[in-house]
Amino acid sequence: MRILSLSALACLLAAPAFAQQAADAVAPEAATKGAFALASPAVQAALAAKDAGQEVTAENWMIAAANPLAVEAGAEVLRAGGTAADAMVAVQVVLGLVEPQSSGLGGGAFLVWYDGTTGELTTLDGRETAPLAATPRLFQDDAGEPLKFFDAVVGGRSVGTPGTPALLETAHRRWGRANWPTLFQAATDLARDGFTVSPRLAQLVERDAERLSRFDATAAYFLPGGTPITAGETLKNPRYAETLQALATHGADAIYTGPLAADIVRTVNTAPGNPGVLSAMDLAIYEVKERAPVCASYREFEVCGMGPPSSGALTVGQILGMLGHYDLAELGEQHPDSWRLIGDASRLAFADRGRYMADSDFVPVPTNGLVDPAYLAKRARLLGGKKALTQVAPGTPEFDHALNLADDEALELPSTSHISIVDAYGNALSMTTTIENAFGSRLMAGGFLLNNELTDFSFRSHRDGLPIANRLEPGKRPRSSMAPTIVMEDGKPALVIGSPGGSRIIGYVAKTIIAWADWDMPLQQALAMPHLVNRFGTYDMEEGTGAEVLMPLMKLAGFEVNARSLNSGLHAIEVGEVLKGAADPRREGIALGE
Ligand code: GLY
Repeated sequence: MRILSLSALACLLAAPAFAQQAADAVAPEAATKGAFALASPAVQAALAAKDAGQEVTAENWMIAAANPLAVEAGAEVLRAGGTAADAMVAVQVVLGLVEPQSSGLGGGAFLVWYDGTTGELTTLDGRETAPLAATPRLFQDDAGEPLKFFDAVVGGRSVGTPGTPALLETAHRRWGRANWPTLFQAATDLARDGFTVSPRLAQLVERDAERLSRFDATAAYFLPGGTPITAGETLKNPRYAETLQALATHGADAIYTGPLAADIVRTVNTAPGNPGVLSAMDLAIYEVKERAPVCASYREFEVCGMGPPSSGALTVGQILGMLGHYDLAELGEQHPDSWRLIGDASRLAFADRGRYMADSDFVPVPTNGLVDPAYLAKRARLLGGKKALTQVAPGTPEFDHALNLADDEALELPSTSHISIVDAYGNALSMTTTIENAFGSRLMAGGFLLNNELTDFSFRSHRDGLPIANRLEPGKRPRSSMAPTIVMEDGKPALVIGSPGGSRIIGYVAKTIIAWADWDMPLQQALAMPHLVNRFGTYDMEEGTGAEVLMPLMKLAGFEVNARSLNSGLHAIEVGEVLKGAADPRREGIALGE
């Protein structure tokens, strides 16, 4: 049999075929437009721009997020002179209502902030925390073997202390201008009067109906009378409206102390079949942590984001830091070697992620060593061949503390949501927010879903006698892949970006930065570009798109390949003479600016 060379097969990569986006990416858009038919003219225009594959441009401010109702709430805040931090609060509390499966008050988030006045970058860690009573064996059976994933997820066992309410309050205190209670009005009105169920929410409820039906409060809300809610129907959540009003009046204490805290603890610890170990003390002592941003150089940019306990900025930074040694612009997006390099740089970065990245308050993480240019140059030399690497192992970054660790293969499955905002004061905010799995633990308290973030820990604590960095420990924060990012150029934001997608977030964000920075793609086109993502297993190509054209080529290069749906939810803003906003066509979000 004649085997075609990579370069001969490269001619398969005719531009139109590769650029073709997912067929199913178009259907939700049309349905989304129907679901938001009554929204403002500005929202209609934003939906139309996305439909046409164009960015939204603006002079003063811009928001991009996962649901038009949430974006509209944030836009109102910005129109009234609020900051990006104010708008984020309004967006988040509406998302918790209209996209409850992805993020909300029962979850956690990471926030990257660029201050337009001081020019400083700050990152806030609002990650969920393991209860003090949790042990490394929480997700193991009596024989010490890991539980099956959904046996661990559904119920109280997986619930960590939520961080999002405290993060909203901290961001508002530090950078807000608006009156705190006003930020809850839009969400409260929608919760009381009802909102239109979107096609995506309805579809996910139907798909998850059995798990959602296991708990009374959750079943009553999502499956009233035993029937899943449907797209286009009006859904009210009076319990959530009460919670929002308590939050508006008393601040985050309304969630962390008092009757609502007691309700959360009771719900978690009495979950039928799978109770958890959360206490009132866990909630009372929760704190948001400010951490140093992690930045990596790429071309003329500094790519900055959230360090440990997230692996996001480190892994994105490692991928880009290695690829900076190769001329992807010259190769172009059609060339198989571009994808070989991206695929193997990702595998090398994920090998380091599995070995070294976890909550640095509990394990020594070689944060600086992992993105040190000399280390990445050494790792990049491994990519110098013509074929995929046959062996991918963690490297040996410079380490402040000597410690032998074993590798972790914990997956984070896609739920999550991303918010990008630039305000009229020159501030920029990138925040990725989650309750982990779609519908989190499936438990509800106070009208919102509680997270299952603890399953982002490794279920095993040791391997071959060595500890795993991301093992569960009381008070520790599970490793995340969330990568809220601000790409800086000459000390100022050039791109604000992030995505949901579990551990694939890293690939989505890195690839979109490459498309924008190296291949000069307009932002909306960069977001829509078909995905190819490699973590620590197969090279995944986005099903039904031009990316599938690359399957034989990547197989020939030596990768294991796989076609599958790759459901990112990228939201991005390019900051230049004007602001350009873009929203991922695979989801229901929009970018809106003025
Ligand atoms: N639970 C998704 C993440 O934190 O990456």
